[in-house]
Amino acid sequence: MTQVTNTVRFVLDGKIVEAQGERRTTTVLDYLREQLHRTGSKEGCAEGDCGACVVLVGELNAAGTGVDYVPSNACIQLLPTLDGKSLKTVESLKRADGSLHPVQEAIASCHGSQCGFCTPGIVMSLTGLMQTVPAPTRDQITNSLSGNLCRCTGYKPILDATLAASQAGAAQLKLDDGADVALLQQIRRASTPSYNLEGEIVVQPVVRTRKGNEFVSPATVAEVAQYLLAHPQATLLAGSTEIGLQVNKQFTRPEHIVYLGNVAELRQVAQSASSWRIGAQVSLTQVEALVATAYPDFAEVLRRFGSPPIRSTATLAGNIANGSPIGDSMPCLMALGATLQLRRGDKTRSVALEAFYTGQKKNVLQPGEFIETIELPKPAPGQVFRAHKVSKRFDQDISATCCALSYALQGGKLAQVKLAYNGLTPSPSRAPRLEAVLHGRAPTEVTAQDLDAAIATSFTPRDGLRATWRYRALVARNLVLQFLEEAPVAANASKEVLA
Ligand SMILES: Cc1cc2nc3c(=O)[nH]c(=O)nc-3n(C[C@H](O)[C@H](O)[C@H](O)COP(=O)(O)OP(=O)(O)OC[C@H]3O[C@@H](n4cnc5c(N)ncnc54)[C@H](O)[C@@H]3O)c2cc1C
Ligand code: FES
Ligand code: FES
Repeated sequence: MTQVTNTVRFVLDGKIVEAQGERRTTTVLDYLREQLHRTGSKEGCAEGDCGACVVLVGELNAAGTGVDYVPSNACIQLLPTLDGKSLKTVESLKRADGSLHPVQEAIASCHGSQCGFCTPGIVMSLTGLMQTVPAPTRDQITNSLSGNLCRCTGYKPILDATLAASQAGAAQLKLDDGADVALLQQIRRASTPSYNLEGEIVVQPVVRTRKGNEFVSPATVAEVAQYLLAHPQATLLAGSTEIGLQVNKQFTRPEHIVYLGNVAELRQVAQSASSWRIGAQVSLTQVEALVATAYPDFAEVLRRFGSPPIRSTATLAGNIANGSPIGDSMPCLMALGATLQLRRGDKTRSVALEAFYTGQKKNVLQPGEFIETIELPKPAPGQVFRAHKVSKRFDQDISATCCALSYALQGGKLAQVKLAYNGLTPSPSRAPRLEAVLHGRAPTEVTAQDLDAAIATSFTPRDGLRATWRYRALVARNLVLQFLEEAPVAANASKEVLA
């Protein structure tokens, strides 16, 4: 249990690396390439899109006996987030006898690489997948590669190579991390706060510059709250899929960064009979699994959110707090009646997500306040939930518009209607006038004309980079009609209500 100021300690292939004197915004990729001279991981876009930089980040499993890995875009992850974790790069795959990993062998023998620029990222994405799924299906393979762009080979030989590699079996595919477990235990971060003589919490920095700027990585919500009271302008860092872009593309250098990735309480999902309480550090991959049965359309929207490395680091809270007009999770969460628990110091309050935004990228958070959890209701009897994201590409693309609709049928009429969109207003929002068109009517009575009229009076037309207003308005109307036309499947299928 150590915390050494200005030293980021992580495990790399059976050794502890101590990165000293690095900036709080140094990226994992820059550190790998410039300081460790591990140049296998490439920089293609520096914004999480191309996958040339994919690495695997490991943490001790719950039992402390092995390592769980997630794929990560090293270009947008900040080095201090690695403190207490382990890292595997394409160089890690070389065996002691110099032989290649089965995925590398297969890529070479199936001609899955031409210029080779994308290959290390592709190999790491596939190796990551095969740690938990040693014999993946074609769908699992294509999904795992949805964030890896190859401009010259074409994906067929890469798919063939993956299927060939899967013949090697789990033991051969497993990463060599036998020596890492004990080292991870050695550098494990403290799980309780430190106190000064007055009994006040002292949040130890991972990195502190000569000017006094800090990267802190608290272990408890109490520390986060305390630190934010003292430094209300500090930048919260969750999955870094927005902040990493701001660092690389806008050259922002936040004075103080508060990383939430080590706060165990924020990584939990609690549940009652009627809802889930999702901690602010729960990843989108985890949320996708959580809602897969109750709300399959929500899970599908999340499955098409970014790519596996993005989803395994990005959080629901980060998506909400970022507040992009085309943020994808918010229409679903609004239609489902999600509520945020906000915290400032030791005071908490609940705010409905639909009341959270006050304008484009503006919200009700006070200085020093943060999202602690997101409360997502479980399906009510007879509730039908539909959602769909329309984007130019199926995978790894941002919405033109995403629409989510929740309703029940009472005596064949639409009731309890909640409809929400992104892409139509400065922040994702519900659409009360369209809801009014639906309410009390049978699905077959809802007409395109009525919806068009409500759209025309609800929104200010504006063309965007991703779609014209005309296109968005058409999509907004047609998605509702499609949802109503398709046979409703209640989230918890109550035959009586649906009859
Ligand atoms: C390649 C790529 C693809 C993407 N694809 C999509 C997509 O398909 N759909 C989509 O909607 N978005 C997409 N995004 C945007 C981004 O991934 C999401 O907004 C993501 O959910 C942000 O979460 P994060 O945990 O990474 O946030 P971070 O980058 O860590 O933080 C984002 C913002 O939220 C704040 N914040 C984080 N946690 C809290 C908290 N608990 N309380 C208050 N404030 C907090 C941070 O200070 C920061 O301002 C994509 C991004 C990239 C790079
Ligand atoms: S360099 Fe393109 S995703 Fe990282
Ligand atoms: S082999 Fe050239 S980009 Fe994939």
